[in-house]
Amino acid sequence: MVPSAQAACSRKAVISRAAVTEKPVTTNGTTARAKPGVPEGTPIVTPQNLPSRPRRNRRSETFRSGIRENWLSPAHFILPIFVHEGSSNEPIASMPGINRLAYGKNVVDHVAEARSLGVNQVVIFPKTPDHLKTPSAQEAFNPNGLSQRTIRLLKDAFPDVEIYTDVALDPYNSDGHDGIVRDDGVILNDETVEYLCRQAVSQAEAGADCVSPSDMMDGRVGAIRRALDREGHTHVSIMSYTAKYASAFYGPFRDALASAPKAGQAHRRIPPNKKEYQMDPANYREALREAAADEAEGADIMMVKPGMPYLDVVRSLRDNTSLPISVYHVSGEYAMLKAAAERGWLNEKDAALEALMCFRRAGADLILTYYSVEAAKWLAGEK
Ligand code: PBG
Repeated sequence: MVPSAQAACSRKAVISRAAVTEKPVTTNGTTARAKPGVPEGTPIVTPQNLPSRPRRNRRSETFRSGIRENWLSPAHFILPIFVHEGSSNEPIASMPGINRLAYGKNVVDHVAEARSLGVNQVVIFPKTPDHLKTPSAQEAFNPNGLSQRTIRLLKDAFPDVEIYTDVALDPYNSDGHDGIVRDDGVILNDETVEYLCRQAVSQAEAGADCVSPSDMMDGRVGAIRRALDREGHTHVSIMSYTAKYASAFYGPFRDALASAPKAGQAHRRIPPNKKEYQMDPANYREALREAAADEAEGADIMMVKPGMPYLDVVRSLRDNTSLPISVYHVSGEYAMLKAAAERGWLNEKDAALEALMCFRRAGADLILTYYSVEAAKWLAGEK
């Protein structure tokens, strides 16, 4: 029987203060290690009779690191990069420390720095010039589009870097949606999927290792798989944004690419948000339905997005599939940490590394994070 803490505390204090601090002499005459002192006023109690004391296993960093259940390495990170056609890097106001990189040397230099820190995976997001955006978003599969050129540039410079792409129409769509918008406001599904397939094939042809549909149209994973295979890209993987929620945490990303849904016009209704295709943040079970479909359609990796508010979904997918799981630590989550750190309200390094570790604990293998480079530096410094 374990006596309750209350019973232990209410017991009469029988040991004098002197008895606690005096140096006991052992049977062979040597002096035992002196008992450390305690602050004046510390109560004197009989030890609780506890068979199990979890704190014993947290006693020292040496031991804690020996039994730690999860770990973080730059090998887990996928670095998102924003690319634009300008001649110099442009800071993104709502994402301190992150730039739209100028296509060319600046992109190569940034990835070279990431690689030197052990970050060997990148995902490319192009900022399409406004004059190339149209309501049918056909720039998405231009073989010489900014995305396709950036893939080629990086693959030529670093053949061993794993290059992920984004498959969705929003950066190329003058309406700002991931799919084609019909005049009455309906986001067309199957027509959009046709263009997503062309986009994915053009990215594979440019050298992408893994295409990542982020659009949430129905049936896109299977259709993209068939299109890739038909064109001889059986080795190119698909990381599906399986459970992508209609989240307010994407705000800074849409600033970065100027890709938010545009206002409607008199003759065309444009939905003001993405709730007709991205998932409802209130829903959990629906993620399992999406996961079952993606697995059956041939996804290689399943993603949950955003990250921190959706760890239950990460865990759920982890427990319900044998595919690798990725999580997207999105722009708004990054912005929150940066803003609090700038004000001195959080220790940035500790808070950011904790967030990343918690993704691993929840069951993510891979983490897409704007902290990739900084976190890799912190991890290198810790060794
Ligand atoms: C585009 C896409 C978005 C993000 C990744 N791919 C924005 C959106 O769906 O509106 C968000 C990433 C982030 O916020 O960091 N389909």
